[in-house]
Amino acid sequence: MSTAPRRRVLLGISAGIAAYKSAQLARLLKQSGCEVRVVMTDGAQAFITPLTLQALTGEPVRTSLLDPEAEAGMGHIELARWADLILIAPATADLMARLAHGHADDLLTTLCLASDAEKAMAPAMNQAMWRQPATARNAHRLTEDGWRLLGPDSGDQACGDVGPGRMLEPEAILGALAAPADRPAEGVRVVITAGPTREPLDPVRYLSNHSSGKMGYALAAAATALGARVQLISGPVALPTPAGVERFDVESAGEMHEAAQRLAGGCDLFIGCAAVADYRAEAPAEHKLKKRHDEDTLTLRLVKNPDIIAAVAARPDRPYVVGFAAETRELAAYAHDKLTRKHLDMVVANDVSRAGLGFGADDNAALLLWREDETTGQADLPPQPKADLAEAVIRRALARLAD
Ligand code: PMT
Repeated sequence: MSTAPRRRVLLGISAGIAAYKSAQLARLLKQSGCEVRVVMTDGAQAFITPLTLQALTGEPVRTSLLDPEAEAGMGHIELARWADLILIAPATADLMARLAHGHADDLLTTLCLASDAEKAMAPAMNQAMWRQPATARNAHRLTEDGWRLLGPDSGDQACGDVGPGRMLEPEAILGALAAPADRPAEGVRVVITAGPTREPLDPVRYLSNHSSGKMGYALAAAATALGARVQLISGPVALPTPAGVERFDVESAGEMHEAAQRLAGGCDLFIGCAAVADYRAEAPAEHKLKKRHDEDTLTLRLVKNPDIIAAVAARPDRPYVVGFAAETRELAAYAHDKLTRKHLDMVVANDVSRAGLGFGADDNAALLLWREDETTGQADLPPQPKADLAEAVIRRALARLAD
């Protein structure tokens, strides 16, 4: 799940069939550490009950502006001041129209008008309604007024139509909220390798390692969020493709090398995060290797795989090349060796012996080394979620790329 910052979210729900997804959205917001209070319009209650949202958020749900009992608790002005984000999902065409014109004829619109909080909405409506010039005008005006419009998505609609107007999925709404506001990678093409490689020994066995792909996929997601066009060459992993990323699946180092050479031409930034097997079996067996009953040892003859990242760095049209270094000791010295020996521009060195970091973990820490004229620049990135580390690495590489 995307990381949304911890904040006080006032979740507004209006009368669309997508309101049933707001329950999941409330749950995800809570899980990401937000305090959530829900306000529903009259129409929304025809699609989902306040009790559902109350059970999920642990807070009473507000539905009416003129409710003396509720106003005796947290009054609507207090509620408007409490929120630091007002998120409306789903936002119907009618609600968008009322907000665009400054109406305050129910609790939700009144709160929006009374609050200085950051405001975002996920529109949801029939595709023909979304395409109407009036809706387009309202969407434009809301954006001018400072609203962030998240979506809508396009595809099959509950009414049977196909087209734009579907509410973004709750995970995508959270991801969009967490996305950075700036897009310094606009126009930049990035190629990233991720995950492990598998080197076959016979039709059923292979040599591999513990890479889960999380670090490389986080880099792909971060680069995309910052505006880049991202092509991800992925070894076998069990991760969904980040939204907007073009993914190329490979198995062996040979296949990864071939894909890297094919995609590296004309790209601006190449990041080698994959844990590539340095060696492969010289001659994988055609049939399953049988256990020998007369011998206690088995000798495998391995040959070196191509060095994928060094080959990219050796191209005459080389992009800016960022490699990783997975070390268990002498992090800085080995990373520096990789920077010079492989002719890289930057190295992200991680100590994979540290508990809770590196292979398979959700967090990582790194020592960044990069070429700077005659010297080597250096920065420490302390333990943090891989998503945050990835964004820091991409930003640092973009800054170097722009120099
Ligand atoms: O996937 P996760 O579970 O999230 O774990 C993340 C990670 C630990 C795998 C990642 O952070 C990492 O360190 N990736 C690089 C792992 C590695 O193979 O490091 P290395 O020091 O052996 O290789 C140095 C560099 O050369 C790397 O950029 C590697 O992609 C590249 N290489 C290595 C061998 C080879 N034949 N070709 C290469 O391109």
